[in-house]
Amino acid sequence: MTEITFNQPYDTAEAKVIIATKEEELTYGAAQIIDRSAFNRLKALIEREDTAENKKEILVLDMVKEAIVLLRVKNTIDTPDLEDLGGKLYGRIKNYKSAAVFARKLPKTDFTAEKVAESLAFGIELASYSFDKYRTKKKPSEFPKLETVNFVAKDKLDKKAYEDKAALANAVRYARDLTNEPANELTPEIYAADIKRLEHLGLKVTLLNQNELKKKGFNMLLSVSQGSANPPYVCVIEHRGNKKSKNWDIALVGKGVTFDAGGISLKPAAGMWDMKQDMAGSAVVAASLKAAAQQKLNLNVVGIVGLVENMPSGTATRPGDIVTSLSGQTVEILNTDAEGRLVLGDCLTYVQQQYNPERIIDIATLTGAIIIALGNEMAGMFTNDDCLAELLSISGEQAGEELWRFPLNDNYRKMIKSDIADIKNISNGRAAGSITAACFLESFVNKGTPWAHLDIAGMDKVEKAKSLYPLGASGFGVRLLNQFLKNLEKK
Ligand code: BES
Ligand code: ZN
Ligand code: ZN
Repeated sequence: MTEITFNQPYDTAEAKVIIATKEEELTYGAAQIIDRSAFNRLKALIEREDTAENKKEILVLDMVKEAIVLLRVKNTIDTPDLEDLGGKLYGRIKNYKSAAVFARKLPKTDFTAEKVAESLAFGIELASYSFDKYRTKKKPSEFPKLETVNFVAKDKLDKKAYEDKAALANAVRYARDLTNEPANELTPEIYAADIKRLEHLGLKVTLLNQNELKKKGFNMLLSVSQGSANPPYVCVIEHRGNKKSKNWDIALVGKGVTFDAGGISLKPAAGMWDMKQDMAGSAVVAASLKAAAQQKLNLNVVGIVGLVENMPSGTATRPGDIVTSLSGQTVEILNTDAEGRLVLGDCLTYVQQQYNPERIIDIATLTGAIIIALGNEMAGMFTNDDCLAELLSISGEQAGEELWRFPLNDNYRKMIKSDIADIKNISNGRAAGSITAACFLESFVNKGTPWAHLDIAGMDKVEKAKSLYPLGASGFGVRLLNQFLKNLEKK
């Protein structure tokens, strides 16, 4: 991981980054910070590399142990693009020990030098993440060398301005770390204890253990964990940022299946290992509360995560079993691999009973079908409220984590009616699998409460590295929900 600093000396860095806009030519004025000979070599490099139709975004003048890096920014750039450019910049400078960026105001845009530094630094923080704790034989030469990136500008940069983004980068790392952990190292019990440690940030964390869950009647959730040797936990995380109000502005609900073998409806062996990440939604919820606490958001936010392991065994739920959910509705479990909705359903009921939140967002790696529909590019959104849909979509665009809305209506709702219980956990065919899953969740939401379900299956893992997403767990959703909470705070 690369450390970000501000206002340290510029000249001692091995890689010196200067910023030009794409529209203006590199003038000596823009590059006052480098010496005349480096400037001339950079000019020559530009002439060699630029073609009439394409001016390169990043140009690197390599000088054995040093480099001058030219970043060229379009004046149509927005924040996600600039963050992305920060990630790409990291890719080009990661093998130098230190780097310094001379930040500047971008003409014809709202970007001040501070904002430019913030976006690039954030991009570098996300791109420089790696999960190496289990690689004992990796040689030092295989690790990137970049230890610090220092930001300077003509005037002193306000370091405090970066604190919010630094907290967010930290939260994304937290979600990625949790999601990358293998299931033997992150059982529901270990996970719950980890979340409990968030209390040092001023959050209140309540853990419900198996006995308490039994007493309260979380029977759907318990039907998922009953085949596992690892007992379930539910964690409730409170951020009371607005002490003046008694109301809970929002509840965030996360699926935390620490391993999804499918239960008796066992999954095929190939790719089953990916199901250690079936707790990604819960990691996003825990990380969102962590960020909310560190940023001291002026909102009352409650998070709830259901932590269970879905295993086949002699004590596991059988297809055809009927359970009475915490809401009182009876549920026929026809496929034990459609377990996420069982976990979330009881959590939705509980959080409404206890907190009566003004709105609810749940987030889950819920269906393989959403990957068929959207691939690994966007997450699915299902909601009963157009306002919530709008605010979530905008937040997604601002954060660079986008959503696509799907429909909900009675024709789909009918598909999960059971012949012998109130509802069943799968529909008859495979058609509209993501929508019928959302309809199942909707039946645990009180009428009139704005609710949105985000299906992030396909987004939780990066198979082809992108600028801000190194391989492995993505933490997708943390930036989106943080932007959403910030927008809600302003409303
Ligand atoms: N955790 C899976 C969904 C999933 C699949 C996430 C692939 C990430 C990648 C979920 O619990 C599941 O197994 N869903 C079933 C539902 C089906 C039985 C109705 C599915 O999508 O196949
Ligand atoms: Zn499953
Ligand atoms: Zn699952």
